[in-house]
Amino acid sequence: MRSLDLSVDIAGLSLKTPLILASGILGLSGRLLAKISRAEGVGAVTTKSIGLKPRDGYPNPTIILLPYGLINSMGLPNPGAEAFLKELDEAEDLSSPLIASFYGYSVDEIVETARIIAKHPRVSALELNVSCPHVSGVYELGFKPELVAEAVSKVKKIIDKPLFVKLSPNTHLIVDVARAAAEAGADGLTAINTVKALAIDTELFRPILSGVYGGLSGPALKPIALRCVYEIYKEVDIPIVGCGGVSNSLDVVEFILAGASAVALGSVIAFKGVGVFRELAEGLSSYLERKGFRSVREIVGLSHR
Ligand SMILES: Cc1cc2nc3c(=O)[nH]c(=O)nc-3n(C[C@H](O)[C@H](O)[C@H](O)COP(=O)(O)O)c2cc1C
Repeated sequence: MRSLDLSVDIAGLSLKTPLILASGILGLSGRLLAKISRAEGVGAVTTKSIGLKPRDGYPNPTIILLPYGLINSMGLPNPGAEAFLKELDEAEDLSSPLIASFYGYSVDEIVETARIIAKHPRVSALELNVSCPHVSGVYELGFKPELVAEAVSKVKKIIDKPLFVKLSPNTHLIVDVARAAAEAGADGLTAINTVKALAIDTELFRPILSGVYGGLSGPALKPIALRCVYEIYKEVDIPIVGCGGVSNSLDVVEFILAGASAVALGSVIAFKGVGVFRELAEGLSSYLERKGFRSVREIVGLSHR
């Protein structure tokens, strides 16, 4: 049993633990999001990324399991912003903040989508996804610091909720994009989305995924994600949600020591189920006690000293 208080405040949100459900994992159903928000160890839940218009995503196969993670090429299937509001109506008895993830193909579309989803009373914060590696248009936005800055400042003008920006590891400019987002008024950063990846069918001589490229997630991603969080923390002074390849409580600790104030869990849920939040919260609590710390806050960025 966990005895230590793991609560954290991040970008104006109060979380019972620093553990967040990552975008795209069980996040399309309002009821399911609400159920996960009540599970022990959960600090916040993030929705699947929502666009202005409905999107079907790609035909199967869309996921490849690897010994060290998975490659997905879902293609951002979602019902579109207006229809998603009805899904959020179903998210009754939320017991953790809900972060609505969204995307657009242009700054105008990003702003319009933010305007629609931010008005739902169950949305505590927004997360702008400029980093999905298998949807062109969305993907390239995240490589351009000036476009990300423009989108952030325009969105911040029309919403009164915290805004996170989810960053792409597929550019050497990740710190520049992070800095541009922060200077334009973003309240937090999520690092990272998946790494652009490929798998080939050796019998059929062609790429396996129908969308050709996918995003690599899971344990293989962790050292890359950790490096990104570490680099961003050095240069940018807004809270970071670490994300990528977390599978046990020491992974969570590593992200926090690198500079993350909270940590998002994705692929591990496919392997271990929602109970992993409780397991990781207990492990984090034991670690803090064993090392003589009283709160998560005390170890944020400690590896930089
Ligand atoms: C099946 C699947 C769907 C995803 N969909 C989204 C999405 O809609 N929006 C987004 O920002 N990230 C999405 N992601 C990326 C995750 O939120 C996360 O950034 C990434 O998987 C790395 O974390 P992990 O290694 O813990 O899975 C998706 C990941 C997976 C595996």
